[in-house]
Amino acid sequence: MERTYHKQEINMTEALMLRINELISHYPEDKRKSALLPVLHEVQDAHENWLSIELMNKVAEILLIKPIEVYEVVSFYTMYNQRPIGKYMFEFCQTSPCCLNGVEDLMDYTCEKLGVKVGEPTPDGLFEVRGVECLGACGYAPMMQLGDFYKEHLTAAKIDQLIEDCKNDTIILHDK
Ligand code: FES
Repeated sequence: MERTYHKQEINMTEALMLRINELISHYPEDKRKSALLPVLHEVQDAHENWLSIELMNKVAEILLIKPIEVYEVVSFYTMYNQRPIGKYMFEFCQTSPCCLNGVEDLMDYTCEKLGVKVGEPTPDGLFEVRGVECLGACGYAPMMQLGDFYKEHLTAAKIDQLIEDCKNDTIILHDK
């Protein structure tokens, strides 16, 4: 079933535009496109962590590139979201070393505990579970990313604690 999402309010504040222009200034004028990834991060962070078509079009306009060039990048990388996501996104690494250390059982455990399937936010919009490719912390398997941080050597007890901390709003998601 196709899902529809609320319309995203686009708010390119003065502070956001200053930050974007600062990022663009790192590159030659005819290479503005090189700033695309960091600009998308800034814009997404300022818009409840997702990028609607309208917002991607806005980014294309700012960088003087075609909208398709933005869509291609956003649809390639899992760190960009094309729909509203759960506030607490549990991104489990699903590559071999994490799989061999039980990450799939932990994902099942988390989904069951939250009453969701992978890729579906909880009805209150708080949680979501996603599988991603190797996050480069294979020595700490099984692991996941939550916000800007890695949660390593995961166990069911650690998952329980993380969910509890999220519910109590005592978890730090961002390092800035
Ligand atoms: S395999 Fe999981 S972090 Fe590399």
